[in-house]
Amino acid sequence: MIRSTHTRREFIRNSAVAGTMAALRPTTTSFAGPLAIASKNGLGAVARAVEEINQGADALDAVIAGVNLVEEDPDDLTVGYGGLPNAEGVVELDSAVIHGPTCRAGAVASLQGIKYPSRVAKVVLERTDHVLLVGDGAQQFARTHGFTQEDLLTNQARELWVQWRENLSNRDDYLPPHGPDDVDLGEAIMRNEEHWGTIHCSAIDLQGNISSVTTTSGLAFKLPGRVGDSPIIGAGLYCDNEVGAAGSTGRGEANLENCSSFLIVERMRMGDSPQDACIYACERITQNTHLARLKNDENEPAFNVSFYALNKHGDVAGARIRGAGQMAVADQNGARLIEMAYLFE
Ligand code: GLY
Repeated sequence: MIRSTHTRREFIRNSAVAGTMAALRPTTTSFAGPLAIASKNGLGAVARAVEEINQGADALDAVIAGVNLVEEDPDDLTVGYGGLPNAEGVVELDSAVIHGPTCRAGAVASLQGIKYPSRVAKVVLERTDHVLLVGDGAQQFARTHGFTQEDLLTNQARELWVQWRENLSNRDDYLPPHGPDDVDLGEAIMRNEEHWGTIHCSAIDLQGNISSVTTTSGLAFKLPGRVGDSPIIGAGLYCDNEVGAAGSTGRGEANLENCSSFLIVERMRMGDSPQDACIYACERITQNTHLARLKNDENEPAFNVSFYALNKHGDVAGARIRGAGQMAVADQNGARLIEMAYLFE
């Protein structure tokens, strides 16, 4: 897909053709599913979600069933069981769900010892008058509702954590007092994109209703208690049954500071395609990234954030701040990976 002769805008246009199903769908009427989208690690999740929808499931139950596959997978180091732990070696999970037709949300953050945070988030939605429970309270709530407490730290994740500890030196996520132009703060733990891994999944069911979930073990080796965007409504996910849904993976702090998923849904409400709305959020983060320590030599964000969106008409697309990437989509024709647009090489 990527040709070096393409300008950024040309690529975005080209990817719009490859990355959406707009041409196949009516553009003025609502679309009835099944349709599901997810981050790249959600290929199995979107297939499961569509399977559930075809059997009559509500979109929220379908997306949760989908991401449960990844939450229980010990080999996904970014979500649920087997997720990389915090700096003290403890796995802390974040998740949120939104049910489009009822406009209700539930979420948990810094949840320890419970394998399926997305299911707990749904019980918060159903069985409390609240939206977000955190830490010990979230765990106590989960146990009250019959969730089993277990050790989520796999040998694989523990060995990676030990390796990180052994090479830590004086670098961590604490920052000394600094100004916007300071670069060498000694804070730069080298992390690659996988260290912000997460799964987002949104779907449209047979009634045309939309729901979303995001679930994660958060930033690898994070400060204990650090909460990213995934359990925060409007940051790591957002859904409006009359418009569409959006979710994100990547550097959560950027989404917390820019309310990115809410921004994408509001842009779609104003008429943007899912892809244009995702690109708009990438540009907004770029405009708002002022700190030198977060930028590369070209004055671009040095980190990555990926967005996934669908609208009420069944158009889907994704975009990233940096580099080519793929996302998962499934409908009646099966599950597949599609290319995402991006701002910078
Ligand atoms: N986007 C996942 C996180 O930052 O925790």
